[in-house]
Amino acid sequence: SVVVADTGDIEAIRKYQPQDCTTNPSLILKAAQLTGYAQLLSDTQREVDQAGGDIDTLIDRLTVRIGGELTRIVPGYVSTEVDARLSFDTDKMIAKARHLIELYEQDGISRDRILIKVAATWEGIQAARALKEDGIRCNLTLIFSLEQAIACAQAGVYLISPFVGRITDWYKKSQGVEGFAVDQDPGIQSVRTIYRHFKAHGYDTVVMGASFRSAAQVEALAGCDRLTVSPQLLAELAADEGKLERVLTPEAGSETEAPLTEADF
Ligand code: E4P
Repeated sequence: SVVVADTGDIEAIRKYQPQDCTTNPSLILKAAQLTGYAQLLSDTQREVDQAGGDIDTLIDRLTVRIGGELTRIVPGYVSTEVDARLSFDTDKMIAKARHLIELYEQDGISRDRILIKVAATWEGIQAARALKEDGIRCNLTLIFSLEQAIACAQAGVYLISPFVGRITDWYKKSQGVEGFAVDQDPGIQSVRTIYRHFKAHGYDTVVMGASFRSAAQVEALAGCDRLTVSPQLLAELAADEGKLERVLTPEAGSETEAPLTEADF
């Protein structure tokens, strides 16, 4: 699998050298508090204050400034999220995505380096379809079912992020259990089903497992196109002899389970 860092933390990204990174407003706000961003934070705040901008203007500006820094240290894509409060309004999502891309381009960063992250609601999928016409690639997030994933692929979206942990969390609560063996984990099963279906039907859409709660969950999906992983779990994988390498090159074999490969289909 291609490893992606689920963070805006530059130091963590420098350490693990992922291909891409994924952010969302809470990861951006967390990253903004890191000392490496102190200057960027105060400059952005001053600029927005002088222009009489509000908190949303500040968040957009900060998201793009930090995203811009991230494009300088990952070779691939930086995922930048559209505010989840807009998730049921196609036009507002399109307008926000275009605005974020405009800000990136004002800073000299090409739209080819950015994935706009939108929720995979029906409205979000329509927004992604329209944005593709503008050459804006999307990462459709909050995917919990095969049906949602297929709708995204049929709309020709670039990438989907099927979630693991939020599904597992929900089943843990509803069944009142402490956890699942990786093989029985409904979050893992959901992503595997989606991945297998996509490969069996030859969809071009990239499948990126997301929302991991443990290193074992990451390992269980070795072989999936991409996996976006927090710095804490990347550290755990890296600390355990050879684990990160086995996720990166699953053909070397996994201790827990045979990885998913094209040969599965
Ligand atoms: C990545 O793109 C997602 O935003 C992230 O993995 C979500 O994980 P969570 O379930 O911990 O919010």
